[in-house]
Amino acid sequence: MTTTTCRVCDGKVQEFADLGEQPTANGFLLPHEAENEFFFRLAVGACELCGMVQLLEEVPQDLRYHAGYRYHASGSASHRAHFEGNARRFLATELTGTDPFIVEIGCNDGVMLSTVADAGVRHLGVEPSSNVAAVAAAKGVRVLSEFFDEDTAAAIRAEHGPADVVFGANTICHIAHIGSVLRGIDALLTPAGVFVFEEPYLGTIIEGLAFDQIYDEHVFYFSVESVSAMAAQFGFELVDAEHVPLHGGEIRYTIARQGARTPAPAVAALLDGERARGLSRPETFQRFGRTVERVREDLVALLHKIRAEGKTVVGYGAPGKSSTVTNYCGITTDLVPFVCDSTPGKQGHLVPGSHLPVRPPEAFSDPYPDYALLFAWNHAEEIMAKEQGFREAGGQWIRYVPEVRVG
Ligand code: SAH
Ligand code: TYD
Ligand code: ZN
Repeated sequence: MTTTTCRVCDGKVQEFADLGEQPTANGFLLPHEAENEFFFRLAVGACELCGMVQLLEEVPQDLRYHAGYRYHASGSASHRAHFEGNARRFLATELTGTDPFIVEIGCNDGVMLSTVADAGVRHLGVEPSSNVAAVAAAKGVRVLSEFFDEDTAAAIRAEHGPADVVFGANTICHIAHIGSVLRGIDALLTPAGVFVFEEPYLGTIIEGLAFDQIYDEHVFYFSVESVSAMAAQFGFELVDAEHVPLHGGEIRYTIARQGARTPAPAVAALLDGERARGLSRPETFQRFGRTVERVREDLVALLHKIRAEGKTVVGYGAPGKSSTVTNYCGITTDLVPFVCDSTPGKQGHLVPGSHLPVRPPEAFSDPYPDYALLFAWNHAEEIMAKEQGFREAGGQWIRYVPEVRVG
């Protein structure tokens, strides 16, 4: 059992789950690159003082985010619609003053900021992965290709003035130097400004058993309680929290300077709910660790049974999550010969660590397998609607969150 120091408050972090040796989850490889792959121990724990759940070991940020970063946020229709909605909401609420300014940390391919740019509102995306930053720039988004921290924030403030909104989605929990990020936001925001971020929810992962959301990029696993404590430590206050349906269930947090805004009733309601359910109690975490081991046993047993019956299985979707589950369960090509994914940059590559080949979606029906292991389970509706022919041909979907089931 490893104990380490909390990245937020310096408290002691107690480990509760170990998902073994794992690669970087978005480090899709070409077959000849498989030899020198980077591995680290993927384990999570909770801080005894502030409750923040976090990785015990971390992968250096420049190994995760670089010119070959594979995740393109605009790849899913539901994500495009969601982020356009976010942009429209900011344009109608926080960005209505004279010459407003919004900064997005981790703007990726411009999925949110392109709508802001089209509206002619001043904005800046901060995006270290230069390949996706270039895609955003081609859509008319202004981008600074750097890692956000307190120095970048000071430089942005000096050049552009203060920001009314700082936004981040599926990015803030990726940044190990979270203290520097919050000091940067303090330097950057106007007195009445807000920092809004949407991130995977600890409740979804622990109570919904979405253990495959645990991987190198997700350094932190936020709850309303731990975000509220973190905000207070850096002179801010959590003034709103709302459920968001992306990635199986996230929360959008709104943070303002202490005393600047009246907290919405949702904050206290969500906090009470977390406490009543015992979300952050050590027993809850221990139970999660044991249940995840059982899901692994069930899934591996099912795949062996299918193979013994002479039936076929193909993986559907190669999200970062597929790296966690295949490496944790030891799923290699003898159980799942390949995975289909719509992202051109992943096709022709191998899933990190487990080395399942990634093929285009057309390979799925050529011919249909007997079973499809749905790695992109958070897009189940969109994918099953698109792939109706599979069930019509007698195929069955396999899911493993929150438990293994076939149908
Ligand atoms: N906002 C998009 C993309 C999330 S992927 C969405 O919700 O779908 C996370 C992005 O954060 C990546 O594009 C990565 O390059 C970027 N990122 C990682 N660390 C960062 C940092 N310190 N500052 C700014 N962006 C960062
Ligand atoms: P996603 O769950 O959005 O990301 P993460 O890597 O953060 O876990 O990834 C979904 C993956 O599924 C992505 O690689 C694209 C793929 N996909 C398809 O192949 N077909 C589809 O219809 C959809 C919606 C996604
Ligand atoms: Zn702490």
